[in-house]
Amino acid sequence: MQFRTVATLDGEQKQLDAVIMPVFKEGDGATAAPDDLRERAEWVAREAGSGKIFSTTTHLERESGTRLVVVAAGSRDDYDVQRSWQLVSAGVRALWQSTATRIAIVLETSSLEEHVAVQSGVEGVLYAMWRPEAYRTGPDERKLPPLEEVLLVVSADDLANPEGDAAAVARGLAVGEAVNWARSLANEPANIMTPTKVAEAARELASQSGLEIEVLDEEACAALGMGSFLSVAKGSDEPAQFVVLRHRGRGGAGFDLGLVGKGITFDSGGISLKDPHDMHLMKYDMSGAAVILAAAAVVGRLGLPLNLIAVAPCTENLPGGHATKPGDIVTSMSGKTVEVINTDAEGRMVLIDGVTYAQREGATRVVDVATLTGAVRTALGRYYTGLFGRPEGFVDAVRRAGDVAGERMWPMPLSDEYRDEMKSEIADLHNSAGRGLGGAILGAAFIDAVVEDSTEWAHLDIASTAWFEEDRPFSPKGPQGPTVRTLVQLAASIAARNS
Ligand code: BES
Ligand code: MN
Ligand code: ZN
Repeated sequence: MQFRTVATLDGEQKQLDAVIMPVFKEGDGATAAPDDLRERAEWVAREAGSGKIFSTTTHLERESGTRLVVVAAGSRDDYDVQRSWQLVSAGVRALWQSTATRIAIVLETSSLEEHVAVQSGVEGVLYAMWRPEAYRTGPDERKLPPLEEVLLVVSADDLANPEGDAAAVARGLAVGEAVNWARSLANEPANIMTPTKVAEAARELASQSGLEIEVLDEEACAALGMGSFLSVAKGSDEPAQFVVLRHRGRGGAGFDLGLVGKGITFDSGGISLKDPHDMHLMKYDMSGAAVILAAAAVVGRLGLPLNLIAVAPCTENLPGGHATKPGDIVTSMSGKTVEVINTDAEGRMVLIDGVTYAQREGATRVVDVATLTGAVRTALGRYYTGLFGRPEGFVDAVRRAGDVAGERMWPMPLSDEYRDEMKSEIADLHNSAGRGLGGAILGAAFIDAVVEDSTEWAHLDIASTAWFEEDRPFSPKGPQGPTVRTLVQLAASIAARNS
């Protein structure tokens, strides 16, 4: 698929299979559109009536045979990066099962920087081309439009910077493909996507994106003292894998950023067995690992000038005969001892050894990403990732990266009262405070215990955002790959300070 930015569709319109065009609630179409096209799209929108945001109306143009896809764009005031790729994705999804090969997408560039609009346009197309039906045998159900060329229409002034556009297209491709890679991993069932398979996928990814890879087996993890990570792996016959990617874009020692992702390829709860209702969805409990590996791949592919380490402790959480039992006490790599109250609070157990490993490797900033708690879903619903950490300046930097990248996260408190609740009677920590209050914060407070004072740390609880439970116009039900965009943006902002 080729992407090209253009300022006009003069002479092109007749050869286009489809033109995708946002029209705002106020009745006006994207400003970059040629006048005649905008007028027709506004007319189609008026005829269709005030549709819900992201709803699409397709009008077949009589002379040219081009499909005009009008996307209800919501209010102009709410328009931002996230809205931009969502609108593009909704428009392209309206072409699902069509034969369109050559299309144009009109971008709204009046309130976004041009390169941001272009990147989000490329991403939106790629997101629309991701489908979850990997195991359906009827070909029709997976039939995507065979897109060959996508023209991104920007306003004439924007085209003044063709190199900027080319770089934005390249970034959009790198990020979009990485997000889809993470979605595909999370979509795979747990009998396929075992820890060994995650490690294999990471190997392939590393070789494609120029990253170093190291995979520690259980013996190597034991030698490093990762008793907390290994306590989760004990109930499963699948060998645990501790995956490490490294990118040395700055050279020199240490890492400017460490990413740690929860890689539970299936979470049954262990001996503290989960309710069977929705247990099948716990195949996506490795989404944190998938997104940090994906983000590292983008950093490698774009050659960003910073040193980055990405760490994914991967294992199943099963109630086998050797499984860790409630009440057991283990020693983590940090040296801190943990009383396991609830074997279903396993994410934090694998994360603390991942965070300790990243710090020992010389990471001065650490961001961990995890489908950690049901409680974050209760607190924030489906549209925000939970954001925790210290110091506040770093948490703000992560949130700003999310704003720029078009991903929503909401800062949550973390104070000593919560830290105290995670202290055990008999060991340094326990992994569950037992009461059902503030569970997302308590999860963060547990990880906080192994974060050194000199480390800048953020914890992203993506249990709210990793999986859509229903189809939405811009994305099918299923895995979403949240925070890849934010982590890449954070890495880029750190790299910018390095150079
Ligand atoms: N993987 C789950 C959290 C989860 C729940 C993610 C629903 C996505 C959807 C996690 O390992 C878990 O079981 N957390 C427990 C912690 C509790 C036992 C302290 C929870 O949230 O109930
Ligand atoms: Mn669990
Ligand atoms: Zn879990």
